[in-house]
Amino acid sequence: MSIEIDVLNGDASWTLVKPLYDAVWPPEVVAGLPWAGITFAHADLRVLVQDETGDVLCHVGIYRRIVTWNGQKINVGGIGGVLTRAESRNRGLATVALNAAIQTLKHEDSVNFAMLFCARDRIPFYTARGFEAFDGDVYAEQPDKGRIRFDELAALVHDVKRTAPTRGTIDLCGLPW
Ligand SMILES: CC(C)(COP(=O)(O)OP(=O)(O)OC[C@H]1O[C@@H](n2cnc3c(N)ncnc32)[C@H](O)[C@@H]1OP(=O)(O)O)[C@@H](O)C(=O)NCCC(=O)NCCS
Repeated sequence: MSIEIDVLNGDASWTLVKPLYDAVWPPEVVAGLPWAGITFAHADLRVLVQDETGDVLCHVGIYRRIVTWNGQKINVGGIGGVLTRAESRNRGLATVALNAAIQTLKHEDSVNFAMLFCARDRIPFYTARGFEAFDGDVYAEQPDKGRIRFDELAALVHDVKRTAPTRGTIDLCGLPW
């Protein structure tokens, strides 16, 4: 099987990616996940791993965001929406797509570090791929609630242009991803 890896505009590629989201995260599955009920941002860019027929096997979303860290504005690259079709797992596709996402952020001169949120049982998967736990506090916005402490998911960071902080207070200054 040959695969193709592309980085596409987030909104324009959503129709390609939606069947993968529907297959991996149908509403009844999402209802049982730690992030059920949370409103997330839409990706600005998407890494797509496609098979020779164009079907999306794996996806990683990239989010551009100016956050604050201890009150100081910092440009970060968000990574989220990491998912692989059930029948295509354990072949390294998510690893390849995550690497492509980090490379993309490295090419964007202004991104200091990357940040990702995941269920606690996924932490080892990401730490094995260069991510580190962020042990500080994270705040985000939610519709109707305003600014909330965002602690339903574990926060992980990855160095890009600068060494990522692992402590302090990060305000996502918008929806989480
Ligand atoms: C988590 C998830 C994205 C991983 O996707 P994946 O494409 O299977 O990931 P990879 O193949 O890169 O790595 C998974 C495992 O496959 C194995 N693997 C990786 N590359 C491999 C290769 N080339 N050959 C054989 N096995 C390989 C490894 O054991 C690896 O796990 P480990 O290194 O942590 O032990 C996928 O399980 C998924 O979509 N889950 C549901 C959605 C979800 O929970 N997403 C995460 C949200 S935070």
